[in-house]
Amino acid sequence: MRGKKGLILAADVLDKERLLDVVRQTAPYIDAVKVGNWVLYQHGWSLIGDIKRVCAVPVIADLKLMDFPGMAKRITASAVSAGADGLMVCGIIGQPAVELCRQEAKGRLVFVFTEFTHQSGMISESVADQCVDVALATGCDGVQVPATRPERVKSVRRKVGQRLLIISCGVGSQVYCGQEGRRPDFGSAVAAGADYEIVGRAIYDSVADSAPPAELARRAKERILASCGENPGH
Ligand code: XMP
Repeated sequence: MRGKKGLILAADVLDKERLLDVVRQTAPYIDAVKVGNWVLYQHGWSLIGDIKRVCAVPVIADLKLMDFPGMAKRITASAVSAGADGLMVCGIIGQPAVELCRQEAKGRLVFVFTEFTHQSGMISESVADQCVDVALATGCDGVQVPATRPERVKSVRRKVGQRLLIISCGVGSQVYCGQEGRRPDFGSAVAAGADYEIVGRAIYDSVADSAPPAELARRAKERILASCGENPGH
């Protein structure tokens, strides 16, 4: 995923057939699928294989893994056995635990969750910066920095340069922190310095637009690439 900008589908659809249909439809426009705990609890690890059978992009298990080092390692091993191409761990578990996850995940992508998209999230900027330091120190692939806090995306980009991927959620359906009512548009996080925007409901369940998921994903990808000066037609 390095060296590109793009779109990660947040596949938070409880009905498995619909989830797989959304993935199939949007496959031409997405660069990865992120599958979260809600649907993994419902369908189990086998869901990862089911998704991989309908698309050719990496599947990232957004486990928000938060446990002591030994358990973090075991959960990572299970995600790898299930076929996950990447996983998300919480930076606040600390460097030794993230290091174990990094080792256990071998060649897979490891992303570190730094802070919340929502205003009342209790991870401070200073702790989030320490989570970024943990990602750097342990050789992780990237960090999740919220699109609802564009100043944080800019600040983390300044800090890490090109050493880490920045993936950003909160685009399309959530609101900017401190600005109730304003939603980050497609392309806004990449314009602030992110590499990939993670988009869920604005693609599979848009309240603002009745277009099918494939069309909404196409528009999202077009706006993301336009925001960094890339032409999707080339
Ligand atoms: P929507 O439907 O809002 O989905 O586009 C957003 C996706 O992102 C996840 N999410 C977060 N992940 N920190 C994270 O690591 C956050 O603060 C956060 N907020 C939302 C959410 O689980 C969904 O998959």
